[in-house]
Amino acid sequence: MPIIAGELTMQALVVDISAPAGLRPAEVEDPVPAPDEALVAVRAVSLNFGDVNSVKAGLFEPGAVPGYEAAGIVEVEARDGSGPPRGARVATFGLDGAWATRRAVPVRELAVVPAGVELGAASTLPAAGVSALRAVRRLGPIVGRRVLITGASGGVGRYAVQLATMGGAEVIAAVGSEARGEGLADLGAAEVVVGIKRIAGPVHGVLETVGGQVLADAFAVLADGGSLQSIGCASGEPTTFEPLATVSDPHRVLETFMAGAAMGEDTRYLAALLAAGRLRPQVGWRGGWDRFAEAIEALCGRRVAGKAVLDVAAD
Ligand SMILES: NC(=O)c1ccc[n+]([C@@H]2O[C@H](COP(=O)([O-])OP(=O)(O)OC[C@H]3O[C@@H](n4cnc5c(N)ncnc54)[C@H](OP(=O)(O)O)[C@@H]3O)[C@@H](O)[C@H]2O)c1
Repeated sequence: MPIIAGELTMQALVVDISAPAGLRPAEVEDPVPAPDEALVAVRAVSLNFGDVNSVKAGLFEPGAVPGYEAAGIVEVEARDGSGPPRGARVATFGLDGAWATRRAVPVRELAVVPAGVELGAASTLPAAGVSALRAVRRLGPIVGRRVLITGASGGVGRYAVQLATMGGAEVIAAVGSEARGEGLADLGAAEVVVGIKRIAGPVHGVLETVGGQVLADAFAVLADGGSLQSIGCASGEPTTFEPLATVSDPHRVLETFMAGAAMGEDTRYLAALLAAGRLRPQVGWRGGWDRFAEAIEALCGRRVAGKAVLDVAAD
């Protein structure tokens, strides 16, 4: 397909702070891929706390196309020959550009999706799934150890519960209410708690996505030698530690976590787990992408168990 710069041939959700959820549908220019980028026809996108809230926080210029995760079909393969061929089904990651009918993606940020893995499910892997996977790895050996996962009801949390369980941990899933804990025991959680103060005994590792008081409470139950990975702050609340809370038990680590880049290889691994039925996609909301404002409202309102997926075109 010839790509002509400047042509308005692509549908997208673009930033418009006066519109619902800060977005409106529009026709925009097709992306022009670099030599190491494939052009992907998007079939499904998955929403994240991070991309949705960075729109609300005004981090994009008006007219920009946001979005981290999308899955679709390679329409034009990377010119340098490094990527999958035209027609390959792929899951993709980027810091923007996902919420559109076409996306240019560096080959290192995409993974071929095995036949049998549905593209909506695959779209939830590159940001939420890979972040969970890399955070679990940062805890080091977890076989037979207690691991606390906060915000366990969310997109990262539901994958983290499954992956930490797979790694041999005894997982304690912390959620905001009993209803938000539904389904987590089926994903492997040994214990589901509302409020960390109810946890009996210390934990070796914490994957923390909520921030605020939850971060301080989670650090307080960390065992000597344990690691807390501070992944996010979904609460938007500041954290106050009790005096000396961070200087007693000197071998505890509170570390900043960043998922980083080059998500392709880890996405491929997670897609293989989905294909094998060893990982369960956590799609708690699904609908056409014309319903984006409703999906964003549900996600930000903590009414989605896991991920919200928007269908852009038929798979
Ligand atoms: N560092 C990184 O590389 C990285 C990568 C991915 C994500 N993140 C961050 O990790 C966090 C979680 O991401 P996600 O995609 O899993 O988000 P999500 O699906 O929206 O889940 C967030 C969870 O946090 C809990 N929460 C508590 N207070 C909340 C509030 N005021 N508003 C919304 N949620 C609240 C909710 O659980 P309950 O309803 O059960 O309380 C919710 O399920 C975000 O801060 C995100 O930016 C960071």
